[in-house]
Amino acid sequence: MTATSPQLTAPQASAAPHLSEDLLTPRFYTTEIAKAARTDLDAERPAFEAMLGEMEADYNRDHFDRKAPLDRVRDLAPEQKEAYESYLVRSCVSEFSGFLLFKELSRQLKLAKRPELSRLFNLMARDEARHAGFLNRALVAEGIVIDLPSLSGKRPVTWFPLNWVLYSVYLSEKIGYWRYILIDRHLKANPENAFAPLFDFFEPWCQDENRHGDIFNMLIRCWPGLNSGLRGRLLSRFFLWSVFLTHSLTVCERGNFYRLLGMDPDRFDAEVMRQTNRTARRAFPVVYQLTPTYFELRDQLVDTFRGMKACQAQPMRQLGLKLHFASLLLRQFLQPMERSDAPLAEVSA
Ligand SMILES: [Fe+2]
Ligand SMILES: [Fe+2]
Repeated sequence: MTATSPQLTAPQASAAPHLSEDLLTPRFYTTEIAKAARTDLDAERPAFEAMLGEMEADYNRDHFDRKAPLDRVRDLAPEQKEAYESYLVRSCVSEFSGFLLFKELSRQLKLAKRPELSRLFNLMARDEARHAGFLNRALVAEGIVIDLPSLSGKRPVTWFPLNWVLYSVYLSEKIGYWRYILIDRHLKANPENAFAPLFDFFEPWCQDENRHGDIFNMLIRCWPGLNSGLRGRLLSRFFLWSVFLTHSLTVCERGNFYRLLGMDPDRFDAEVMRQTNRTARRAFPVVYQLTPTYFELRDQLVDTFRGMKACQAQPMRQLGLKLHFASLLLRQFLQPMERSDAPLAEVSA
């Protein structure tokens, strides 16, 4: 898998390590367009029409005020500023990566004579462009310019089979929804921590991500066999595990941003996982049980990941940690799952 880093043109950006490329930098994707063009909407026609109607209605058109100032309202200490900027860069590139995927799918589906599907992807691209644009404006307010057009021209692109894209984008949208809504709820309960006007937009933002997730759930249902049998169980396990793992490493690694909001990063990460796992019952045949062991393994993975980053100059120690990390990954991947139609059990962690 290849990664790309944002082209940062602010004078301080090239020297700032928190703005550089690393393992967690968002990726850019493409997929099997010809197969996507064979999506059979017949069985899902009423849901498709309803979702297209919702997207056309653009309920959030007036909620994203392009003229709203997005400068920080509070001065931050250098490490707080770093945490905020790093969050903005990563989120902006991530939203832009969604925009590129949807825009490309829209363009190709139009060429493949699937105008309705093309329209739906174009409307999702509209939302992601709006999100990326908002984050970009917040970055400009910080004196940082990301050259997004240059990113789209030079980016290395990762190819995924269509079913991988359907599963992973569904989960990214739903985890994005839970991330934005949980931060929004927290800041409404603790307004003294809302240090930037950007956070005022998280509620309409999360509604967009939720809608996108529902659209991908509908697209998964258009492919019978994709969410049942052994293949459905394997895809569910792999994507829940990998999306949760990426989230844990990102949130725990960049914990300062969440502390700046007055949140505990570990608890936030666990709550996002629990809620996303619960939501995924509506799309996937099985979900994780998320027992306390799952979260203990999460803690060990995060600690080992930090250790690996801290001892890069010690090859033997690094090798030992890598092997330990791999064994933890395997153990977490194999944690018990349950059928999505099983009764919900409240598990504390
Ligand atoms: Fe988005
Ligand atoms: Fe989205």
